[in-house]
Amino acid sequence: MTLLDGKKVSDEIKNELKELVGKLISEGKKVPGLVTILVGENPASQFYVNMKGKTCTEIGMISKTEILDSNISEEELLKLVNHYNTDNSFHGILVQLPLPSHINEEKVIDAIDPKKDVDGFHPVNVGNLVIGKDTFYPCTPYGIVELLKRYKIDTKGKHVVVVGRSNIVGKPIANMMLQKKEYANSIVTICHSAARDLKPYTTSADILIAAIGRANFITADMVKDGAVIIDVGINRVEDSSAKKGYRVVGDVDFENVAAKASNITPVPGGVGKMTIAMLMKNTYEAYLKLEQN
Ligand code: GUN
Repeated sequence: MTLLDGKKVSDEIKNELKELVGKLISEGKKVPGLVTILVGENPASQFYVNMKGKTCTEIGMISKTEILDSNISEEELLKLVNHYNTDNSFHGILVQLPLPSHINEEKVIDAIDPKKDVDGFHPVNVGNLVIGKDTFYPCTPYGIVELLKRYKIDTKGKHVVVVGRSNIVGKPIANMMLQKKEYANSIVTICHSAARDLKPYTTSADILIAAIGRANFITADMVKDGAVIIDVGINRVEDSSAKKGYRVVGDVDFENVAAKASNITPVPGGVGKMTIAMLMKNTYEAYLKLEQN
């Protein structure tokens, strides 16, 4: 059984980017910039935004974080997004989700210039993904494909079963694995909570991608011997022996499923670690496209 080490691979990607950005700096060129917009005080969002800023700085990219009061109006937020659409110091714009309920998330995502949409959430980029045109891949699914690639896992003609249909993970990863490309070209099934019984789907998976958001949901009886298991879940479960009173587990019952798997991602240290690295990669790619034209 091979553990797919997201920490190791994400460090590799960050080091590659650091080298590329270092080269820009040594040539006296402009460097890539990412602005992250956080509305309100959601602790998980604060943590992620903080990590994104820190990682940018480590790589040598320009980073700016806009922290806005939870009462900000939708209009003001849209104005800020528009400001960064035309500020050429920034090549990537990321609005951390979820937004407070009085703000329409779709409207905000629609306002981001698709060329700066490093999350890959804008409908233009989603559409381009579906028809196989150049786009930004959403960071978590992009991280999954990159892990498969760096561990040289054969995906051509393999049955990929995605459990979960979110816009952030389930739908984009299904579309990416379907593409006629290396480290894709798979036979793809999407299943979800409305299934009367998920087992017939999950047990037929050569590659099972669990993006459900329920702790330890995928049990050993739900997977085929030798399957590749990608666990996207980040769930807090109470643990009085842990310092914080909780620990983080995935959507997969790791120990029992690992005993049957050929490859598996741990939680933490798997897919989660890849997301920020791919955000950095998307920001660098946005920079290349915007600065070359
Ligand atoms: N909230 C949870 N995941 C994400 C993500 O990938 N991007 C943004 N912007 N917000 C999120």
